[in-house]
Amino acid sequence: MEKLLIKGGKSLSGKISCSGAKNAALPMIAATILCDDKVVLKNLPYLQDITTMFELLGSMGSEILLDENMDFTISSANLKDIEARYELVKTMRASILVLGPLLSKYGKARIALPGGCAIGSRPVNFHLDALKQMGASITLRNGYIEANASQLNGANIKFEGVTVTGTENLMMAATLAKGQTILTNVAKEPEIADLADMLNSMGAKISGAGTDKIVIDGVDKLKGTIFDIPADRIEAGTYLVAAAVTKGSITIDGINPNRLMKVIDKLRAAGAEIDYNEDSISINMKLEFPNPVDITTAPFPEFPTDMQAQFSVINAISSGTANIYETVFENRFMHILELNRMGCDISVKGNHAVIQGVKSIYGAQVMATDLRASASLILAGLCAEGETVVDRIYHIDRGYERIEEKLNYLGANIIRLPS
Ligand code: UD1
Repeated sequence: MEKLLIKGGKSLSGKISCSGAKNAALPMIAATILCDDKVVLKNLPYLQDITTMFELLGSMGSEILLDENMDFTISSANLKDIEARYELVKTMRASILVLGPLLSKYGKARIALPGGCAIGSRPVNFHLDALKQMGASITLRNGYIEANASQLNGANIKFEGVTVTGTENLMMAATLAKGQTILTNVAKEPEIADLADMLNSMGAKISGAGTDKIVIDGVDKLKGTIFDIPADRIEAGTYLVAAAVTKGSITIDGINPNRLMKVIDKLRAAGAEIDYNEDSISINMKLEFPNPVDITTAPFPEFPTDMQAQFSVINAISSGTANIYETVFENRFMHILELNRMGCDISVKGNHAVIQGVKSIYGAQVMATDLRASASLILAGLCAEGETVVDRIYHIDRGYERIEEKLNYLGANIIRLPS
């Protein structure tokens, strides 16, 4: 297995561009199932999760072409198969995103039930309950979700809990349903509005995406489109933290700061100077030790759970004590044990971490457990004394495009060690 060797202590400076957002791209690739025309997706990030999604569509019969501009053309007309096999679903839970489109377009779908994952049990009951309300019959058999519906019907659906991929699945399913669907208690993440923009450009009739209530008027057919994937707010946030923990000064281009306001507020509270315009954010960290910042994760527009592990590192080297409450996933502190092996002083009780800042941390051999946990270990390696080796970095390759290249461009010293 490949590893990253990080020689810590370098202050980051310079400018990089943000890549396309993984969490916007995945539902958009699934949405191509909804029409028979070709769909062109631009600015797709080169990531393992994107490859897995293409593998899934390819296994069902989609044709995927990459041109000289690195744009992908996806043609999902007349799929020969409507099954998401366990081998693919187990490596990426977001495979569940093909359920809504398959059911809406083909009237059936067979999707392996995603199991637990490193950050919690992550069930899909909200997706299934909502699809049932649209008239789908759903049975669970041999570890698979078997869903059928000769025609999905519009419905008034209030989600029991806020779910990002659940909202996306239902929004996609409702585009071709008969009549109007009203979704409430939905997720408001920017990627939901991005997906609605793409679907509307395909002829869907969706309003309210990004608010508490989404209204979808079903149409008979969707057409092809050409769509640009917006920038990845979590990637941008991670690099901002990299600058904050290395007393750095960097600019990230291509990112809309409105998608990161809670993160920007917390970075300012930690002592960083931040400037932005409509598509770029600059950070300058002058404090020797960041101020401690309390964090409570919650659905957008609150502080994102996908930035929680990164802020553990800011607090770990801060000048005081901070509290982190993780309210979205029940088991998202796996990085803490590894951070403590690097000299951090963090205790965890349930969903609450108490972080006592220390004057310095030191390199160690550490193990990545999930995507954002691996990001936090790299961040810790950047500000640690000596060398850090991060193992199991396939987790990081799922969600960060060329991370060591981008960080080295900013002045870090990271080497990818071969298997
Ligand atoms: C998405 C993001 C992920 C992010 C998460 C929360 C993608 C591909 N992934 O994941 O990066 O960390 O949102 O912002 O966009 N839940 C249920 N039943 C369900 C669905 C969810 O109980 O049917 C629970 C989950 O266990 C979790 C919470 O709801 O505790 C939120 O999960 P959800 O928003 O669905 O996360 P994902 O969409 O899987």
